[in-house]
Amino acid sequence: MSKRQHIVAGNWKMNKDYEEGRALALEIVEKLQPSETIMVLGTPYIHLKGVAHIISDINNLYLAAQNCHQEDSGAYTGEISTDMLRSVGCTYVILGHSERREYFQESDELIAAKVSQAIRHGLKPIFCCGELLQTREAGAQEAVVGEQVKKGLFNLTPEEFSQVVIAYEPVWAIGTGKTASPDQAQEMHAFIRGLLAAQYGDEAAQATSILYGGSVKPDNAQEIFSKTDVDGGLIGGASLKANDFIAIANSF
Ligand code: PGA
Repeated sequence: MSKRQHIVAGNWKMNKDYEEGRALALEIVEKLQPSETIMVLGTPYIHLKGVAHIISDINNLYLAAQNCHQEDSGAYTGEISTDMLRSVGCTYVILGHSERREYFQESDELIAAKVSQAIRHGLKPIFCCGELLQTREAGAQEAVVGEQVKKGLFNLTPEEFSQVVIAYEPVWAIGTGKTASPDQAQEMHAFIRGLLAAQYGDEAAQATSILYGGSVKPDNAQEIFSKTDVDGGLIGGASLKANDFIAIANSF
C-alpha cells in the first residue's frame, strides 16, 4: 500500500435542501466506522456551517466547498471568498470540475487563479481534470488532460503544490453510469503522476493523491481503487446516499 493518503470525497453538487443535507451528514456520522481513509463532504454553500458542526468531532472527515472566488473580497455579487469558506470550517475546495468548465465557462487560467487563491488562504484544492468523449475517441486524452494539469497547477511553487489533490474525471463517465475501466483510470493516473514528477520531482509526485471520478459506485469502487495510482474517488450521485458513500470509502 502506498504512503499516499486515500481520499474519498463526495460532491453533492446542487442537491439537498437544508434539512435534507443535515439529515445526510448526520446519517453518515452515525454509520461511519473509524478508518484511515480521509472522507470529504463537498456540500453546497448553505450546508457548510451546519455540516461542519455535525462532523467536527469525527476523525478523518472533512468539509469541502464546490467552488470559490479568486479575489480576496469586494464587489463580486453572489460570490464566496476563500476566507469565508475557511471561517465556516472548510478544509478543501473542489475546483475545475467539468460542470464548472462547461456550464460556467471556467477557463484553465481562471481555475489556476482559484487554485492559487485557495492555497494562499489555507484551503486544499481538489483539482479536477478530464477529457470529453470525442477527445478519447480521437485518442487525444493525454494531450488534453496534460494541458489542463499544466495550465491549472504548474504555476504553483513546490510548497504550494504539496497542498493539491487531483481528481481525474473523464467527462463521459460523470453521471452516465459508464465508468472508465480500472485500466483506463490507471493509465491516466500514471500519466498524470509522470507529469508531476517531471515538474516537481519524484517524491512530490509520489506523495500526491490522485482520485478517480465518474460513476463510482459501491460495486465498482474496489476494483478501481485497487490500481496502483488510484488513491481514492470523487463521488457524485453515490455520495447522496450515506450507505453507498460509506461503502465506497470502505472499499480500500
Ligand atoms: P458521478 O459524479 O459520481 O455522479 O458520476 C462524479 C463527479 O462529477 O464528481
